[in-house]
Amino acid sequence: MSLIEVARSAEIIEGIVRISSAAGHNVAITRVNGTVCAFENKCPHMGLSLARGKISGGAITCPFHGSRFDICSGKNLAWASSVLGAKMPGWSHKVLAVGKPPADLKIIAVTEQDGWVFAKLP
Ligand code: FES
Repeated sequence: MSLIEVARSAEIIEGIVRISSAAGHNVAITRVNGTVCAFENKCPHMGLSLARGKISGGAITCPFHGSRFDICSGKNLAWASSVLGAKMPGWSHKVLAVGKPPADLKIIAVTEQDGWVFAKLP
C-alpha cells in the first residue's frame, strides 16, 4: 500500500463527487460533514459509475437502480429499487437485483495533508 495524491483539498466539496484515477483505481471523493471520504467508483450492483449519484444525509444513491450507500463507511442502506430515478414496485426489486445480493461500497482510505488528499492504494 502507498499513499497517492488524488486531489487538491480545495477541490473536494460537500455534496459533490470528484473522480480521480490513480494506480489503476477510479477513486470517487467527496466531503461529509467536513471529512474527506472516498470509495471505488463502481456500484457493487452492476459496476456502474456513482459519479452522478445524489448525495443526501451522508449517503449516495446510485443513479441507475437506486442502491444507496453510506459514503464514509460504504455500508449498503438500500438495494436496487428504481430505474434511472423512477421508483419501481416492490415485486420487481428481485428482478432489478439480477440475482446479486446487497453489497457494500469498497471504501478507499484517504487523508488530507498540506492542501492535498492522498489515497491509500495497493
Ligand atoms: S448499478 Fe448501481 S444500483 Fe444498479
